[in-house]
This record gives sequence, structure tokens and C-alpha cells, in this order.
Amino acid sequence: MKDILKELERRRAQARMGGGERRIEAQHGKGKLTARERLDVLLDPGSFEEWDMFVEHRAVDFGMAEQRVAGDGVVTGHGRIDGRPVMVFSQDFTVFGGSLSETHAQKICKVMDQAVQLGVPVIGLNDSGGARIQEGVESLAGYAEVFLRNAVASGVVPQISMIMGPCAGGAVYSPAMTDFIFMVKDSSYMFVTGPDVVKTVTHETVTHEELGGAITHTTKSGVADLAFENDVEALLDLRRFLSFLPLNNREAPPERPTEDPADREEPSLDTLVPPSATRPYDMKELILKVVDEGDFFELQPSYAGNIVIGFARMNGKTVGIVANQPMVLAGCLDIDSAIKGARFVRFCDCFNIPIVTFVDVPGFLPGTAQEYNGIIKHGAKLLFAYAQATVPKVTVITRKAYGGAYDVMSSKHLRGDVNYAWPSAEIAVMGPKGAVEIIFRADAGDPEKIEERTEEYRRLFANPFVAASRGFIDDVIMPHGTRRRICQALGLLEKKKLEDPWRKHDNLPL
Ligand code: HXC
Repeated sequence: MKDILKELERRRAQARMGGGERRIEAQHGKGKLTARERLDVLLDPGSFEEWDMFVEHRAVDFGMAEQRVAGDGVVTGHGRIDGRPVMVFSQDFTVFGGSLSETHAQKICKVMDQAVQLGVPVIGLNDSGGARIQEGVESLAGYAEVFLRNAVASGVVPQISMIMGPCAGGAVYSPAMTDFIFMVKDSSYMFVTGPDVVKTVTHETVTHEELGGAITHTTKSGVADLAFENDVEALLDLRRFLSFLPLNNREAPPERPTEDPADREEPSLDTLVPPSATRPYDMKELILKVVDEGDFFELQPSYAGNIVIGFARMNGKTVGIVANQPMVLAGCLDIDSAIKGARFVRFCDCFNIPIVTFVDVPGFLPGTAQEYNGIIKHGAKLLFAYAQATVPKVTVITRKAYGGAYDVMSSKHLRGDVNYAWPSAEIAVMGPKGAVEIIFRADAGDPEKIEERTEEYRRLFANPFVAASRGFIDDVIMPHGTRRRICQALGLLEKKKLEDPWRKHDNLPL
């Protein structure tokens, strides 16, 4: 018996060494942790149980029969984060460059299947050279099996991808189907075709980093949600991120008791909105002053900054925050911000997370670039997402809510549950200047008359009371009482139940 136990220990120790000392050193040399070291940082100490440690590939071509490494380039299993279960896979670049073989894929599929059955989030740590080149179609089939599971798990359990090395070719489509993609600066990249192919086909010269690094995807493409400095920072922040999310679509998000009183007043908010309607102010200041302990986990901060999205807590419970940002493009909605907002609203709705929306929106961004690229269809995504969302929706209009953008931003008409406005709110078809230019075009040559008409329009429409008189706004509230009123509204809405008629699925304007 002793010998058998020793043999088990020997095999385990060997599997833990992955591709061996030299390759582990090379991994460290690039500033990267190994697959197992990453899981040590991510998971609660001692909570990881590894599965399929002894799985090996079955390939024989190109000398593969002689090269078998226990685990086959991916460490899989389950563990805990803040005591809550998660299923994990962590690709091991030291074994065949973390490339995906038939068996590697089967290991990932096993944890994904379990995640869906048990209602537990899946976290993937990606560090892979792509399809195992020594295998053929088996490896491609393996990818497709993973893709299928990504689609099936979508909206059932949260799926999170942390890109910590290469992720190229068709391999990118698994993370792309997960709910969130995080990346590590300088050591990770994602692209469908690499710099060499790009050079051949389009004659563009571009580095890995420029084409698909963390900065590119968090500032230019919007593919990734956040970029982190290094592996440790990324994994620790991933732990914090998970604390906002429920385990699955049938559960409420976890509660975190807070010392921050639900009725805390914030007098500085009374002067947040500048007297001039054209002067910007920082919407993030409002968010930070209203949420529990100023703790806001912002997503995509450097992409489509005209809309702000992220998670926070109100009175201990997770909320999704969506806010127009007057500091960027005056807070206009455009293609990128509509897509960014829509995807976030849909995630919140899938996972029972109430949505708090702060509105200061002068309308949709005009221009040929927007029209030619389909602002009509893309803007409709945000409209559709809000209209469809059945989670509690609380809205606060701080200043402008003009035109179609007023409707879009969680208005009463899209089943907004509790809609507040600050006294500084202006809810109208458009701003006074633009309105007068159109309806009093005949007076264009008379600046005095135009000024008079503009003032009249401002007096009549640039306020929250017309909307309030129709019941489109439930109340006009004091800015300093915003936190108290939102907490109160969310408390009321806790038991909200709203069901739509049966359908197979919707047809979101893609
Ligand atoms: C098998 C691979 C591999 C792969 C890397 N390795 N990629 N083995 N299949 N796809 C092995 C290398 O042979 C090497 O083995 C070890 O991993 C480390 O690789 P290096 O090249 O030394 O590392 P580095 O210089 O850091 O370069 C990393 C890399 C490069 C940029 C990822 O290895 C690379 O370009 N790999 C090929 C990428 C690729 O074309 N993949 C297929 C894409 S198509 P040793 O023994 O020397 O340590 C695809 C289709 C998916 O993925 C379709 C889904 C539908």
C-alpha cells in the first residue's frame, strides 16, 4: 500500500511541474505566473480541488506519442472565492504552449458542464498558443465544444475570462462569448489574425501589443473590460469583482453589510450641476458619493467614456450603475456607448442585479460617421436592453434628458420603476437653443426675438415639472437626498416580479 501512495505522490508532483523547470523559469522570465500559481492567488487558500490531473492527450503524430504531460496543458477544477464556489480552468503555457488539444478541451468542457448544472460561475485563465498544431480537426472540434458551452451557459452562470498570455485565432471566440474579458498589460494579446498575416494581407506593420494588447482592447476595440498591470493585481481584482456577482441566474447577488447609512445625505451634490447648461461636471463624483462607501467597480473606463458602467452596492446590495458622462462628448449617446451600455444592462438583467441609471444626455451624437456605421441599429440595442430588462430599475435625471435619448435612458415609458429628477433636470424634445432655431426660423435675423423665444422655451420646458405633471417622473428630489431615495426605492422593489409573454428568445437588433 505504501508504494501505491508513494506512486500517487510521485505522479502528482510530476504533474505539478507541468512542462518542467526550464519552461517554468521562462514563464517567470516574462513576468508571468504559472497556471497553478495563478490559481493560488485567485482562490481562497487550500480551497482548490484539481480534477483530471492525470489526463493525457491521445495524439501520436509528429512524435507526440513520446511527449505526454499529465494534465495536458490546462489545470481544471473548483475552488472558492470569499467562501463561494467557482469552477476554474487555467491554461498552462509551459505544456505545449497551453495549446488546446482534444483532451485539453474535454477538461474545460467538464468544468463548464458542472458549472451549469450546479449554478456556479466559470472563470477561465487563458494563456495558450491556440489549437494544438500536432493535432488536426480534433483540436478544432474541441474548440467548438467549448464555444457551444459558452453559448449554453450564457445568462445561466457568470462566465469570466482573464487573458494572461496569447489568445489568437479562433481561440478568441470563447472569451468573446463570456460575460467579461479582463487582460494583463504587456503579457496578453488577443487577435483573430496575427501581425504576420496582417502584414501579408493588408501591408500594415503592427506589433502584437498594438494589434491586440490590453491597451488596444480597453481603449480602441472595447473587446476587453479592464487592463491590469500584472498577474497578481489582475487576480486579486478578479476576486473583488466576483464579490458583486450572484452565483447564477436564480440567485440574488451576495449582500455585504455596510456601515454607510442608507439615509446618508450628501450636501455637496446640491451644487454638483453647474449653473450653465453647457458646462460639464464629473458624473463619477455623483456615483462615488451615492454608493456604499464610495466603492464603485467601473468597467471599460477608457472606452466610450461618454457612458459610465460598473457595479456598486446600495445598502449592502449589488446594483449595476449606468450613467451618462457630461465630461466626454457632452454625454451624448453614440454607437460605442450604446453597445457598451446595452451589454451591461443585459448582464444585470440576466443575473438579477437592479439597475440604477443617472441621466444627463443631450441626445444622440450627430454625423455621417455615426449614421453610416449604423447608430440607428446600435442605438436600438440600448433601447431594447432597457425596455426588456425586468430587474428593478431606478432612474435619476440630473440635468439634460433630451429627445430619443430621454426615452432610451431607463425612462418611465420603458418600464422604469422609480424615476426621479433633480430640480436642475431639463426634460424636452431638445435643448432651448436648437428648438428655437427650428420653430422660429423666421426670426433668425432678429437676435433679440430669438433670445426672448429661447428664454420662453427654457422657462416652459427646461425643467422637470412638465414631465412630473404627467407622472413620467415620480418625484423631483433634492440632490443631497439622492442616496436615501435610491435606497428606499430599491428596498420597495426588492420583491418586484414582472414577466413577459412566452417566446423562444428575443431578436435583439444585432
Ligand atoms: C503546439 C505549441 C503551440 C501550438 C506554442 N507551442 N503554440 N505547440 N501547438 N499551437 C509550443 C511551442 O512549440 C513551444 O514548445 C512552446 O509552446 C512555447 O512556444 P514558443 O514559441 O517558444 O513561445 P513564445 O516565443 O512565447 O511564442 C508564443 C506563441 C508562439 C506566439 C504563441 O508559440 C506561436 O505563434 N504559436 C503558434 C500559434 C498558432 O499559430 N496557433 C494556431 C492558431 S489557429 P517547446 O517544446 O519549445 O517549449 C487556432 C485555430 C483555433 O488556434 C480555431 C478555433 C475555431
